[in-house]
Amino acid sequence: MLAGKRLLLIIGGGIAAYKCLDLIRRLKEQGAGVTPVLTRAAQEFVTPLSVSALAGEKVYTDLFDLTDEAEMGHIQLSRMADLVLVAPATADLMAKMAGGHANDLATTLLMATDTPVMIAPAMNVRMWEHAATQRNLTTLVADGISVVGPNIGGMACGEHGAGRMSEPMEIVGAVEAALSDGPLKGKRVLVTSGPTHEPIDPVRYIANRSSGAQGTAIASALAALGAEVVFVTGPADVPPPQGVEVIAVQSAAEMLKAVQGALPVDAGVFAAAVADWRVKHESGSKIKKQDGKLPVLEFAENPDILAEVSQMKKGRPKLVVGFAAETDDVIANATAKRKRKGCDWIVANDVSPETGIMGGTENTVHLITDDGVDNWPRMGKSEVARQLAERIAASLS
Ligand code: CTP
Repeated sequence: MLAGKRLLLIIGGGIAAYKCLDLIRRLKEQGAGVTPVLTRAAQEFVTPLSVSALAGEKVYTDLFDLTDEAEMGHIQLSRMADLVLVAPATADLMAKMAGGHANDLATTLLMATDTPVMIAPAMNVRMWEHAATQRNLTTLVADGISVVGPNIGGMACGEHGAGRMSEPMEIVGAVEAALSDGPLKGKRVLVTSGPTHEPIDPVRYIANRSSGAQGTAIASALAALGAEVVFVTGPADVPPPQGVEVIAVQSAAEMLKAVQGALPVDAGVFAAAVADWRVKHESGSKIKKQDGKLPVLEFAENPDILAEVSQMKKGRPKLVVGFAAETDDVIANATAKRKRKGCDWIVANDVSPETGIMGGTENTVHLITDDGVDNWPRMGKSEVARQLAERIAASLS
């Protein structure tokens, strides 16, 4: 939540400026007040009227606006916020910031402010990868400016790669983490969640009954304590949490790649129900029925993501938390699993159908650590998540 927080939102002149209209709505939904500033170039992409209507506030566009006696001076304007957010931060705006220019209202405010600054870069992939932009980025990070994104994906210019501005809710999450006073402020935590789908052919797959509810609740609870959360999710039934970076995957192989790309992190919580096997030879076309013949599927073992991260020689997260979904001998199996995989903690739960845990709203867990087994009473999945997040915060502090 951003209740009572005020943001100075500097909108740069790029095509991603259109996303700022949604960003303003999302920030306001979280309780923030937004004072928008449009650069001259930004006004080519969005109008001051639409920005002002969504923000419910006056839009500042020009340094001369502020010379009026009735207006706030630029020094005052630059310091009235809890955070100055630049979105989209274009290559040009980043260069001006890195060079200390102050030739319009936006850059003057950025020079005059004494509050934290965050940028959400957005530009063409070649511009992003250009040595000058990367040099400017290093300078800005060294100056203490925080950066959200950019994402990899298709761009308005038709190219593909890094340079897409982060989605509004990812930016909201980064803002919340930056402004949070929670115990996980400044910590980056990875959460895997949901089932994986292992393809048989273009229309069929093998899956499991995980809804993603417990992993989603854990990601929310960690974000609420101020963590920057990377949420890697298979195709879950429940929507992903708000205010976290969401990476959606299908298969175990894709999940492993996403997890590796999200490292380094301070802690990893592996709540996903990853398929142990995939079909060895995925068919490129739909497997057809053949009279009197049944298809035979050959399996191959999937990578064990939790074990790989737990056993990393370099850059291992300080805390690795696994889950154990068991139907028999829950504690004994989970204790052995913790040892075999090399994680620090295991959250064990009985997923036998009669417990109603898989796909349900409650959970009964046993937290297994070096100190032994802690048996938690049956409670809602969000309460399990809240208590686990507090334990993680205590362990990372
Ligand atoms: N896990 C993983 N990658 C896999 C399989 C499991 O990261 N390929 C993780 C899960 O996210 C969970 C833990 O390992 O944190 C245990 O998952 P579980 O399904 O209980 O155990 P398995 O390793 O699959 O063992 P088994 O099926 O024999 O119980």
